[in-house]
Amino acid sequence: MAVRINPSILAADFVNLERDIARIESADLVHVDVMDNHFVPNLTFGLQMVERLQDVSARPLDVHLMIDHVDRWAPDYARTGAYSVTFHAEATEHPVELARTLRGLGARAGIALKPGTDVEAYLPLLAEFDQVLVMTVEPGFGGQEFMLSTMPKLRRLRDAVDKSGADLWLQVDGGVDLRTISIARDAGADTFVAGSAVFRSGHPAEQIALLRAAAEAHGH
Ligand code: DX5
Ligand code: ZN
Repeated sequence: MAVRINPSILAADFVNLERDIARIESADLVHVDVMDNHFVPNLTFGLQMVERLQDVSARPLDVHLMIDHVDRWAPDYARTGAYSVTFHAEATEHPVELARTLRGLGARAGIALKPGTDVEAYLPLLAEFDQVLVMTVEPGFGGQEFMLSTMPKLRRLRDAVDKSGADLWLQVDGGVDLRTISIARDAGADTFVAGSAVFRSGHPAEQIALLRAAAEAHGH
């Protein structure tokens, strides 16, 4: 099964994003964290920035919306041409309708679950999504410790996805590094977001290769 490594530019230099994106061209997608200081207690940037990132990035964008009012805003992110748009389950009462809208606009539709959010209610809906993001830290900040307590949820999802035969990516985000990537891979993830591990290393391309090798070494 294919492995995807999506570096998070949350850990890049915000006044040199074009330069830093050019350093991760060996990535599968570029993970873009949008935070509104309401859904999470941190603020990054919005639609205008994502439009420009889309212009300058050689790799497709994997937009992770940590914002309220996703029914209002997520479609606009799909309209930027983002390859994938992921909204939080906790931020909408209408996840299926929103996912259908995103797909209708040509984006892959993703749904994200905070560490404390149960997955059971979403299992019958898997066909509606192209990606489920299992948060492995509380969303809001980079550099936090990977939460092992989220692995049973990932296993449950892997099981359900395999049984359904759906072409759905299982993404982990938060605290992913050369050690924890193997744990997440064993539990069923195929798509890995890494911010600090890639950019704080000083050698982003090398780190992407190492993460990819570590994930590929742990098939399940
Ligand atoms: C956290 C963000 C992550 C963050 C991960 O809320 O969604 O994408 O950049 O950063 P690291 O890899 O440093 O945990
Ligand atoms: Zn993220």
